[in-house]
Amino acid sequence: MIAGELNPTPRFLMGPGPSDAHPRVLRAMATPLIGHLDPQFIEVMNETRAMLQEIMRTENEMTFAVSAPGSAGMETCLINLLEPGDEALICVNGVFGNRMADIVERCGAKLVRVDAPWGEIIEPAQVRAALGTCRPRLVAIVHGETSTGVCQPLEEIGRLTHEAGALFLVDAVTSLAGVDVRVDDWGIDALYSGTQKCLSAPPGMSPITLSPRAMKVVTGRKTKVQSWFLDLNLVASYVTGGAKRSYHHTAPISNAFALREALRLVLEEGIEARFERHRRIHGLLRDGLEELGFEFVVKTEHRLPQLNAVRLPAGLDDATARRRLLEEFNIEVGAGLGDFAGKVWRIGLMGCSCTENHVNMLLAALRRIMAQA
Ligand SMILES: Cc1ncc(COP(=O)(O)O)c(C=O)c1O
Repeated sequence: MIAGELNPTPRFLMGPGPSDAHPRVLRAMATPLIGHLDPQFIEVMNETRAMLQEIMRTENEMTFAVSAPGSAGMETCLINLLEPGDEALICVNGVFGNRMADIVERCGAKLVRVDAPWGEIIEPAQVRAALGTCRPRLVAIVHGETSTGVCQPLEEIGRLTHEAGALFLVDAVTSLAGVDVRVDDWGIDALYSGTQKCLSAPPGMSPITLSPRAMKVVTGRKTKVQSWFLDLNLVASYVTGGAKRSYHHTAPISNAFALREALRLVLEEGIEARFERHRRIHGLLRDGLEELGFEFVVKTEHRLPQLNAVRLPAGLDDATARRRLLEEFNIEVGAGLGDFAGKVWRIGLMGCSCTENHVNMLLAALRRIMAQA
């Protein structure tokens, strides 16, 4: 059997990711392949690292994109920094904190959890109290919790973490390039992100950065990292080896081209201007949704502009309305997860999906659907 020609209906991606990719990014993906050790590709890796350092606001040498999606960045950080028997303090207020907790247990490390209700931040006082009961190797937290729309303040928790002699690990999959992320100023020792959210590149790579302090832990391990592919001691010679780079794995060349172009677009726009655009367009969406009877899950001061978690107005059926948005209007929005299933939508305004047109289209479609409900 030969499948038909691939021709999916174009969609407007306004869910929790992936977001719409810029035509320049898609064109970059169609660039003819070169070898992954070709000097021209090594130059692409060097340029990508320099641009990532600028966007993450870090001078960390160990800054590169893992050849796999955000979960692989998460796993890379945790499994390289933890050895069996270590303690790890994980902050959980949504799906992705839970995923980190799961990985910690798979590392054979001792999990200490700090929990907050979904839709709320983790309070620094909770972390301070927990640090009084354990001596963790690291404290990990999600900056932009995609399951709830919470933007977690980081600085004070980072300070408490360092006072306790631990490493500070941050999930910036949804936050990077949509709200401010300052790796060096905020004392972040390890951070991972994803390409398919506010960077607006296709999914499939995970930009990460590790401080020299974190890399000292990685190179000083007593035990081998349990994953060969994600062992930073082995990856290092490929990603930061300069002209002497040696083969580790075959990099996803086309995704790397796409990421490079996406980073160029971020820097051309300007990081601050990009944050301002996300805030401004979020304001338009918020006003329109509130007029239609949607209610935000998260308090104003802790909202991510790029991920809007809203409770549905009475009378609007979750599955029917999302199906109509997709089938009749080609607009994708995200369903609620866990306790939010059936009650909450997650509306993304990430990168190239964060425009006034996207908001106007969605609001017009919702008005039509709600008038007919
Ligand atoms: C906050 C957060 N962390 C981690 C991930 C995992 O990333 P991926 O789905 O690219 O593996 C996601 C994906 O949605 C996320 O939103």
